[in-house]
Amino acid sequence: MALQLQNPILKWIEYRLPVFSTIDHMVGSGYPTPKNLNYLWNFGSLAGIVLVVQIVTGIVLAMHYTPHTSLAFDSVEHIMRDVNYGWLMRYLHANGASMFFVVVYIHIFRGLYYGSYKTPRELLWFIGIIILLAMMATAFMGYVLPWGQMSFWGATVITNLFSAFPFIGDPIVTWLWGGFAVDNPTLNRFFSLHFLLPFVIVGLVMLHLLALHQHGSNNPLGVEKKGPQDTIPFHPYYTVKDLFGLGVFLIFFAYWVFFNPNYLGHPDNYIPANPLVTPAHIVPEWYFLPFYAILRAVPDKLGGVLLMFGAILILFLLPWLDTSRVKSSRFRPIYKQFYWVFVLACIGLLWAGGQPPEGLPLYLSRVCTVYYFAHFLVVMPLVGWFERPRPLPASISEPVLGGGKLPAGAAARGTH
Ligand code: HEM
Repeated sequence: MALQLQNPILKWIEYRLPVFSTIDHMVGSGYPTPKNLNYLWNFGSLAGIVLVVQIVTGIVLAMHYTPHTSLAFDSVEHIMRDVNYGWLMRYLHANGASMFFVVVYIHIFRGLYYGSYKTPRELLWFIGIIILLAMMATAFMGYVLPWGQMSFWGATVITNLFSAFPFIGDPIVTWLWGGFAVDNPTLNRFFSLHFLLPFVIVGLVMLHLLALHQHGSNNPLGVEKKGPQDTIPFHPYYTVKDLFGLGVFLIFFAYWVFFNPNYLGHPDNYIPANPLVTPAHIVPEWYFLPFYAILRAVPDKLGGVLLMFGAILILFLLPWLDTSRVKSSRFRPIYKQFYWVFVLACIGLLWAGGQPPEGLPLYLSRVCTVYYFAHFLVVMPLVGWFERPRPLPASISEPVLGGGKLPAGAAARGTH
């Protein structure tokens, strides 16, 4: 239904610049949305809100922060102690980074479970992966800015990984550093890029939404919408649902910011960077731990680096590696079990990545790394090929209007 504006000023603007119809088309009553979306579909809008929180708090922090090796650490302490509500800005920003990854990881696992990467949403998925890579680069560079021990040594370890590449490796590392060690030029460029990248992410999110609106959301049944009977207007139904989810999420976020603000960080980052003293264990932030575990699972440095990057790049191949005709795991009795094994493997990697690389953690990280890749390269193609999916409902409305019942044989057992 076309947007009807009554207010003459709004009409005047709309006639010249179609902002209101665009908003209506994106998140208003002009956007027909599958009527069966569950709470896992809240996480995209939550990610957008956290992105805004990060940008706003980041801009305020940048007003008081000094990107120089001799002043950076003290300027952060100045923000914490002297700047009005500086502590709040910093704790929101530091914990906001963690929240961003919590939300986006759930968003990705939702997509994996319901096959949202499958046709016709491949490009939507690809843009998502590029956003993830940009988020990781932003978070990594942001962690260097307070110039604590973990900032310095984390930056040293991760940038040094590029030296594993033969011939070009060392020149790349020198180029990244802007010198022969992680030093002031490195801190300066990291600050500059850390400020820039979130705006690049905003641009990518717009593309992400453009791709989303081309075919609309997937849904827990993985059956495409067949007509107006399968949809409800985004506003007010999903605006209200998203707002409720936001309220719950803000309580969770507030817990970290107000009651446990340093739990997700590392105590060593409250020690000023010292190139002469290496910390006993150099660990990245929790959201990098699974990838760090993959890196260290491989005895060869170059192999580890390639596998670590490969762990993300492999996501680009999913639309082709998944050979199933059915999108949603809800109708895939065998694949569903493997999905949870995959989740366990990721949790195993997360735990192992935070431990010293020896004994049980090292063994576990190797087993989980093997499964991580086997899941995509072996399980996905094979299970999709031999599994017999449960019968799909004819449309989204069928189970919704049938009181949530699925057709015979589709047994309502299991997760939705
Ligand atoms: C800044 C980060 C991100 C923002 C703000 C964002 C935003 C959104 C929004 C608002 C939606 C629609 C609501 C929903 O389905 O939850 C969406 C859908 C989607 N996103 Fe993202 N996203 C982000 C990152 C990612 C990443 C990293 C991936 C995958 C690697 C991804 C893949 C998808 C897919 C496949 C859909 C369609 C899901 C479906 O309809 O079933 N997104 N995103």
